[in-house]
Amino acid sequence: MTNPYLPIPYKILEVRQETDIDYTYKVAYSGQLIGGQFMEISIPGVGEAPISICGFDDKSLEMTIRKVGRLTDQIFSLKKDDTLYMRGPYGNGFDLEKFRGKDVAFIAGGTGLAPVRKTIDYFIRNKDEVKNLEVLIGFKSPSDQLFVDDIKRWSVDNNITVTVDQGDENWTKETGLITKHITKLDLSDVKNKVAVVVGPPIMMKFTTLELIKKGFQEENIWVSFERKMSCGIGKCGHCKIDETYVCLEGPVFNYVKAKTLID
Ligand SMILES: Cc1cc2nc3c(=O)[nH]c(=O)nc-3n(C[C@H](O)[C@H](O)[C@H](O)COP(=O)(O)OP(=O)(O)OC[C@H]3O[C@@H](n4cnc5c(N)ncnc54)[C@H](O)[C@@H]3O)c2cc1C
Ligand code: FES
Repeated sequence: MTNPYLPIPYKILEVRQETDIDYTYKVAYSGQLIGGQFMEISIPGVGEAPISICGFDDKSLEMTIRKVGRLTDQIFSLKKDDTLYMRGPYGNGFDLEKFRGKDVAFIAGGTGLAPVRKTIDYFIRNKDEVKNLEVLIGFKSPSDQLFVDDIKRWSVDNNITVTVDQGDENWTKETGLITKHITKLDLSDVKNKVAVVVGPPIMMKFTTLELIKKGFQEENIWVSFERKMSCGIGKCGHCKIDETYVCLEGPVFNYVKAKTLID
């Protein structure tokens, strides 16, 4: 029997700096993946943490990692050709079928763009699979922007709004909290519009409340949780809220379920 906790060594193919504290790691990997799933990444003797898969192709996957503590500090010293240990993939990820044929708005705040990046990119490349596609992205400041090249590419011929809480003298796009810009979405048939909301808990809370106020139906809203996790495989109970194991049933939830998981 294989040990489900055993991490496997993978080669880092590329390291890209996004901001001072966010780096994207491209790792050699082949296997079935779904955007929004996560890997448990580790360095032996240091620690382990869940990190979202923010991109993948047949031979690699990408993860954008924020330097916040014990493990992620150490990961920042890793370079191209070094080894990163991983186990996974875990979680449900974003089911594309939930969005096909629909009028969809992706609303992402800060690092919340990472878990949803692959799904946005998929529908930007396959626009005929959705009725309408809009993307609203918020960062704290211009220097907190992630995936700048992707956003530039997505913005060609698509309705992409980027806002920062606080701009600077070079900032020419929108300013103000993301909730302020929900009115920029096409709300003409809001009862049938689907929204995906991913970001820090406070952003998700106020964004979903604002969407509901504007007429979005709860069952048409999807969120992704970054709850504290440990094993990732439904064994340790760290992520459990009542009877729900976020690591197994999530991290992507319909709002009807998600609103019951606030503890
Ligand atoms: C499903 C899921 C997906 C995730 N995806 C991503 C992702 O794509 N990218 C990403 O970067 N993260 C992601 N995370 C979060 C990531 O797993 C955590 O940030 C993880 O704890 C980092 O591990 P660490 O050992 O580096 O940090 P830890 O040392 O465990 O620190 C964790 C927290 O404690 C705080 N902390 C650490 N040291 C101190 C201190 N001295 N004083 C005060 N506070 C402190 C940090 O600010 C941080 O918030 C995800 C989490 C989940 C559950
Ligand atoms: S993280 Fe261990 S049960 Fe979910």
